Amino acid sequence: MLSLSMKNANILLAITGGISAYKSAILARLLIKAGCDVRVMMTDGACEFITPLTLQALTGHEVHTDLLDETAERGMGHIELAKWADLLVIAPASANTIAKLAMGLADNLVSTVALATTAPILVAPAMNQAMYHHAIVQNNLDTLIKFGHHIIMPASGEQACGDMGVGRLPEPEDLCERILDFVSSKQSPPLLLADKKVVITAGATVEPIDPVRFLSNHSTGKMGFALARACVRAGADVTIIVGKSVQLPTPIGITRLNVGTADEMLTACQGAMTDDGDTIFIATAAVADYKVANVATQKIKKVDGQDSLTLELIKNPDILATISQNFPHAIMVGFAAETFDTENYAKGKLVAKNLDMIAVNDVSDQSIGFGSDDNAMTVFFAKQYEQDKVVLSKASKDNIAQQLVACVGQVLAHRATAQDER
Ligand SMILES: Cc1cc2nc3c(=O)[nH]c(=O)nc-3n(C[C@H](O)[C@H](O)[C@H](O)COP(=O)(O)O)c2cc1C
Repeated sequence: MLSLSMKNANILLAITGGISAYKSAILARLLIKAGCDVRVMMTDGACEFITPLTLQALTGHEVHTDLLDETAERGMGHIELAKWADLLVIAPASANTIAKLAMGLADNLVSTVALATTAPILVAPAMNQAMYHHAIVQNNLDTLIKFGHHIIMPASGEQACGDMGVGRLPEPEDLCERILDFVSSKQSPPLLLADKKVVITAGATVEPIDPVRFLSNHSTGKMGFALARACVRAGADVTIIVGKSVQLPTPIGITRLNVGTADEMLTACQGAMTDDGDTIFIATAAVADYKVANVATQKIKKVDGQDSLTLELIKNPDILATISQNFPHAIMVGFAAETFDTENYAKGKLVAKNLDMIAVNDVSDQSIGFGSDDNAMTVFFAKQYEQDKVVLSKASKDNIAQQLVACVGQVLAHRATAQDER
């Protein structure tokens, strides 16, 4: 439900050149209906997708397209527009405009106003899924966040080009709700993890058999990296400890430690952790349960007439249980990827390893398993917390990561209240 009490909020809506620009016309209409005063500026690219006349008719105001427009300079030039805005919303934000904003370029009206305004800036990226996942686009978004811009995460689903994945502009009703929430809070969303330290494990560990072979699994580290980005965006100081399988670039602002085996991962975790309530350990890595007892120093040769080979495996350390035991004051977040009886297994692990919360997903569903861009999870909380569980329905891993950070925020808030009452 939309709030209808947005009287007098001056919203400057910037539309850039994306296929979803048509949704911005509906967005403008919804914002006006909610009581906002909306002015529109458009890039040349945007004008290829939707006409300024449409937006002028919907808003009742001239639409601004040119930086060097003599008529506009007499009325509302770029500085006046920048000063007029209580909030600048860039929706859709093309990859091109995001890159310009990240570089501080000012070569058209939208990029110049974005630099000139002191109003908060909400950026709603929308593009093809491969473009959205490109490391340069992700780094540019991280840069925007570093400079205080706020990102409205794209939705996942079928795209105009026929691809499936993350990059769709959210529906105008959803966008409108996000914008109105922002306006009514009259401030940036609070940084949930400000002054917190987060240590995350991600990807698969690799257990050598001999100098050229190893035992590992299909984990790609995508969920761990999405969480690392979400934690940085929530204000945390993040270290990610990454198994060798991971091919992902390191997001800006994150300390990355590469490891191979489970033993190496445990050592790195012990070194990165601190035993206090401001430290959060998130174990997303798929750690090998067993390792080879006697790793061969030379490549194991195929032997004629020998049809089988037996490897003796011994248990690896349980990283989450060990960290939980060694750092009892820190907040412990476990992950469980299961293929059956997911809930019982997760609840057992929550208690046995003394965790604050555990997120469990059913990886037998291929559309949310290893390597996929989407996920769906149920989060169970330890019994001292008010909530028993939260169901996070299928969404992009970035979106799920944001919701998981909100769950960690609940744990922190509960702990803070409990401490105050003492
Ligand atoms: C049919 C078509 C659809 C496009 N859709 C998008 C899109 O959804 N997102 C995006 O970032 N770029 C998209 N582009 C590319 C941009 O329009 C292009 O990068 C342009 O330079 C953006 O300029 P602007 O940022 O100044 O608006 C599309 C291009 C075409 C031809």
